[in-house]
Amino acid sequence: MPQTMNIAIEVSDRELAGSITEILKSLNDVKVHKWYGSMGEKGDLSVKSSPNIIITADDPATDEIFRRLPKIRHVFPQAAVFVVSTEKDPKHIVEVMKAGATEYLVTPLDGKVLTNSIEEVRAKLTETGHIAKGAVYSFISSKGGLGSSVLSVNTAATLAATIKNGNAVALCDISFQSGDTSVLLDILPETTIVDICRNFHRLDVSLLKGAMVKHKSGLELLAAPVSPEDYEMIKEGHIEKIIGLLTKLYDRIIVDCPSMSITGSTIEAFRVSSKVFVVIDLSLPAIRNAVRITQMIRKLGICDEKIEFILNRYEKNATLSIEDAEKNLGKQIFWLFPNDFSDIMSSINEGVPVVQLHPRSLISKNIMSFTQKLRNKLESKDYRGARTAFGKSI
Ligand SMILES: Nc1ncnc2c1ncn2[C@@H]1O[C@H](COP(=O)(O)OP(=O)(O)O)[C@@H](O)[C@H]1O
Ligand SMILES: [Mg+2]
Repeated sequence: MPQTMNIAIEVSDRELAGSITEILKSLNDVKVHKWYGSMGEKGDLSVKSSPNIIITADDPATDEIFRRLPKIRHVFPQAAVFVVSTEKDPKHIVEVMKAGATEYLVTPLDGKVLTNSIEEVRAKLTETGHIAKGAVYSFISSKGGLGSSVLSVNTAATLAATIKNGNAVALCDISFQSGDTSVLLDILPETTIVDICRNFHRLDVSLLKGAMVKHKSGLELLAAPVSPEDYEMIKEGHIEKIIGLLTKLYDRIIVDCPSMSITGSTIEAFRVSSKVFVVIDLSLPAIRNAVRITQMIRKLGICDEKIEFILNRYEKNATLSIEDAEKNLGKQIFWLFPNDFSDIMSSINEGVPVVQLHPRSLISKNIMSFTQKLRNKLESKDYRGARTAFGKSI
């Protein structure tokens, strides 16, 4: 039974929009929503329906598409984005694809090409109705040791337990100098990301799949190199390509980035991320560095709307308040993870994610709610991990 496809057409040229609609009529089980404004800005459309495919137009005379695509990707991370354009220049096409397009279609539209592309997306739709094309969540600590590895491992393990459809969750460790995720998962990886980089010229889905190590929780790990010198094998463009390929295979990709220092690989991971979670605590150095990371991301031309601050080891009696932190950050903190030293320590020592080892602990319940929020399944929208003594969301 084919899945019904929700297709949103965001094309202001009514003639072009009309010709697309005409082509779509030849397909079964397709619902078309026309949208003449810029939905990337507001995301209103997500309220009415959640599109599987967004068809948007490129005006090659302006570079508007490069601003619009990251916004659309941010609001609709699960949707495939088709860009329709008059421009045939391969350089421009590559740039548009890099900016997040799933397909690039040149006008006048070839009906067969468009319908084939739609059927390809339909084939990848999972039972849950979204495309098995991964949303990428990167985690970076604004200061060493704030919890990026602990939080990425546990988020990945929780997602793997909740999303039940084959290739659900990949964890990609690009914190090459420390590579803690395999330790946290008690995995001695036989293959690592370096094996892929060594054979980069023949990188394809099967080579990548072969390098993934399956963990008991269901997540699949692409481990960091075992010896730190090996990371010299990782060259410019490798990470972007590898994560790009992971998005074709997995529903969610969690990337554990090295703390604080932003490397070329980190930037590549950020570019393909739907969200970048910057881990902070309530201390001035952490907040100052979080601001610095944000400024750097902005300078690199990466959409800063995808940055979310997450506060780890939260305790109610901290000297710095959440309000003070938010004033400096210029943005509301997305989530608060409680301090839970003993449960986290025993999980690290046993090499079992805390969500598996102590599923009823405060930190595990909190991480489960966090992943629900990522999946838009949290009932209370203003809840972000902590409540006041009277049970109100903080
Ligand atoms: N929520 C938490 N409560 C208590 N301790 C934590 C928590 N999160 C992390 N830790 C501690 O912080 C240490 C560093 O975490 P880690 O994830 O390795 O940081 P990073 O990857 O940012 O360098 C861990 O060894 C653990 O002891
Ligand atoms: Mg780490």
